[in-house]
Amino acid sequence: MNRTERSTLWSYFSEKECRGYSPLYEQITLAVSKNEEVLDFLINTPSDGAHPNLLLAAVHDRVLQGLEPELYEIYYQNGNSDVGDAFIKCVLQSQNELAPVLTTRYVQTNEIGRVASLIPALATLQLAENATLVDVGCSAGLTLTRDHCFVDYGAHGTYGPLHAEVRIQCDVLHGNPPLAQTCIADQIGFDRNPIDVRHPDDYRWMQACVWPDTGRTERTKAALNLAADADTKFVKGDAITDLPALLSSIAGPLVITTTWALVYLPREMWTVFSQNLAEASHSRPVYWISAEAAGVAVDLPSKELPDVEGPPGTVLGSITYENGKLSDAKVLAHVHSHGKWMWWYD
Ligand SMILES: C[S@@+](CC[C@H](N)C(=O)[O-])C[C@H]1O[C@@H](n2cnc3c(N)ncnc32)[C@H](O)[C@@H]1O
Repeated sequence: MNRTERSTLWSYFSEKECRGYSPLYEQITLAVSKNEEVLDFLINTPSDGAHPNLLLAAVHDRVLQGLEPELYEIYYQNGNSDVGDAFIKCVLQSQNELAPVLTTRYVQTNEIGRVASLIPALATLQLAENATLVDVGCSAGLTLTRDHCFVDYGAHGTYGPLHAEVRIQCDVLHGNPPLAQTCIADQIGFDRNPIDVRHPDDYRWMQACVWPDTGRTERTKAALNLAADADTKFVKGDAITDLPALLSSIAGPLVITTTWALVYLPREMWTVFSQNLAEASHSRPVYWISAEAAGVAVDLPSKELPDVEGPPGTVLGSITYENGKLSDAKVLAHVHSHGKWMWWYD
């Protein structure tokens, strides 16, 4: 990716991902899109640092360590310096410290709000009691704690323990999402780099991946604490090369969940991923609940996004494979990427 393409990526991200959701990151990403020195630093840093989220998290990690007081004041104390300038200054002064972070860390945002989408999607499945759920691209496994979260769907009801520490609000803009608990016998978190939030650096990196001005900081901390106590079973591996072996080692129906994970795979791997799930379905059904950007779950029919203000919605899909092939695929809903709203199709 050359400088012009990088610049376009950052300005697109500013307009499409940040506007209407994170004014701080909207300003920062726009400033980066116009700054040749920062763009060149990214070009010269061998990583998947093309994605704006990685640099944003790497800088936020420094802020959380107390290394960037000016940005700390802007992010957390309503400081009114120009955030674009402060961010660029930080990057240019800390290139030597940032480069190793960009080359060793991944964007592993783990957004607990996504359980608001997963709960009704899982409730649509007719599962046998011995189903195993594998969350692919689980990061720290936060979404696997869904049954310990309280989700408020407004007039449509609530889910989970009333006094749960993790509390999520999801506005249902259309339709009637089902809210029953799904019968999952066992669940596994699968990731190329599972995060163990019992380690302080990993705990802080998970916080660093959260956008500071979106009101998610406290809820994420509560979710990280929940995950630290959850004793989740993690398997480390690649979603394309290693997942098939894990799936063939599990007997009985499989539920695969992916939430904003496959989009990080090379585009040509999206088809391979679905072929692998079909392959795993020769002896039992495989159900895939996907919450991904449009086009990523290749078997889903395309469906026009509802006209909702803010970043484009995530496509929530349900895809079933049986006897080695696709047997059903439907778009269940369009949802906010962090679970703030849902447009459910009855
Ligand atoms: C943006 S995070 C999403 C985490 C979580 N699913 C959520 O919704 O909050 C993407 C995750 O996908 C994982 N990932 C990316 N490419 C992968 C691959 N090829 N194999 C396995 N995991 C992968 C990353 O390590 C990261 O934890």
